[in-house]
Amino acid sequence: MNEAQLRALTFSHRAARLAMAGVATGLFEEIAETPRTVDEVAAACGLAERGARALLEALAALGVIERVRGAYPATPAARAVFCEKGEASRRHTVLHDLWHTGLWTRLEESLASGRPLDDRNGDPFFTRPDVLVRFFPNLAHAMVESTREETIELAEQLALPAFARVLDLGGGGGQFSRAIADAHPDAEVVLFDQPPVIAAAPAHPRITAAPGDFFTSPLDPAGAGFDCVLLARVLMGFDDVRAAELLGRVRAVLRPGGVVHVVELRRGEGAAGRVAALLDVDMLLLTGGAVRTACELRALLAAAELRPGEPRSLGLGMLHIEARS
Ligand SMILES: C[S@@+](CC[C@H](N)C(=O)[O-])C[C@H]1O[C@@H](n2cnc3c(N)ncnc32)[C@H](O)[C@@H]1O
Repeated sequence: MNEAQLRALTFSHRAARLAMAGVATGLFEEIAETPRTVDEVAAACGLAERGARALLEALAALGVIERVRGAYPATPAARAVFCEKGEASRRHTVLHDLWHTGLWTRLEESLASGRPLDDRNGDPFFTRPDVLVRFFPNLAHAMVESTREETIELAEQLALPAFARVLDLGGGGGQFSRAIADAHPDAEVVLFDQPPVIAAAPAHPRITAAPGDFFTSPLDPAGAGFDCVLLARVLMGFDDVRAAELLGRVRAVLRPGGVVHVVELRRGEGAAGRVAALLDVDMLLLTGGAVRTACELRALLAAAELRPGEPRSLGLGMLHIEARS
C-alpha cells in the first residue's frame, strides 16, 4: 500500500461503521424502493433529524447512497448488498460484524495475551438483551450469506454410498445440509448445532435438526454411525486442544469406511487470503481458535488418527480436506 492508501485505510473505519448503522437502523430498507427525505428517514428509522441528516449526508458523500433533489435513493449496489431481499445480500453478515465491533476496540488486549477476551463487559452490544436474542439466529443467516456457490460444489464432490447417513456438525443455517440432501436423493442428513442456531434450520424431509453441544451432547444418539461427517468452518472456532477433542468425538461416530470432510477458509495470497487473515484475528479475539493453513489442518487430523488427503480449493476462498479413519 502507498501512503495515500494507508491514510485512507485508518480513516475508513468511519465509513464501515456508517454502513453498519445504515443496516442496523433500517435505513437501506427504507430507501430501497423510494427515495426519502431527511425528515421521512428520521421518522421511519427512529432517528433525530440531526442524526438522520448526518447519516444520509455521510453515506451520500461516500457514494453508498445518492442525493437527488433533496431525497436520498439507495444505489443498486446498496440495495443488492444491504437489503434483506437483495440478490447479493450481506445484511446478516453486517449485523454480525456490527455486534463484534465493541470487541475489536479491545484488540490490543488479545494481541498482548494471545488469548480471546475472557469477559465481554466492555462490549456495548453483547450486553444488550435485544441484541442477544437476535444474535444466534442472525449468525446462522450470516453463514448462509457467505457460502453460495461452495455448497453446491461441495455437495457434488461428495462420493456417498447409497442411503448414506451424513452429519453436518455445526451446520449453522443448514445450507450445506440442504445442498447435500438435494444432490444425494437417498441420503439422510443430521444437522447438529446449538439450539438457538438450529432454530433457523431449513425444513426438509431428509434433514433432521439435532440441537446440542459438540462437547457435552451425544453426536449420534441413534447410534447408527455416519458415512460422512462435515465440519464446515467449525475447527477454526477452537484451539488445537479443543479441535482435537472434537475430532476424537467425530472419529467415534464414523462408520467403517466413513469420511470426514473439513472445509475451512483458505490461507494464502490474494483476496481470499486477506479475508482468512482478518478472520484469524476474529478467532483470536472471540474464541481462541485460528484460521489454520492446510498443513496445520492436516497435522490436526493426523493427530486425531484420521488420514487426511490432499487439500482442494472450494469456491473462491475455501479449502476442502477429506480424511479417513
Ligand atoms: C462458523 S459457523 C459455521 C456454520 C456452517 N457449518 C457453515 O459453514 O456455514 C460455526 C457453527 O458451529 C456452531 N458451534 C460452535 N460451537 C458449538 C458447540 N459447542 N456446540 C454446537 N455447535 C457449536 C455455531 O453455532 C455455528 O453455527
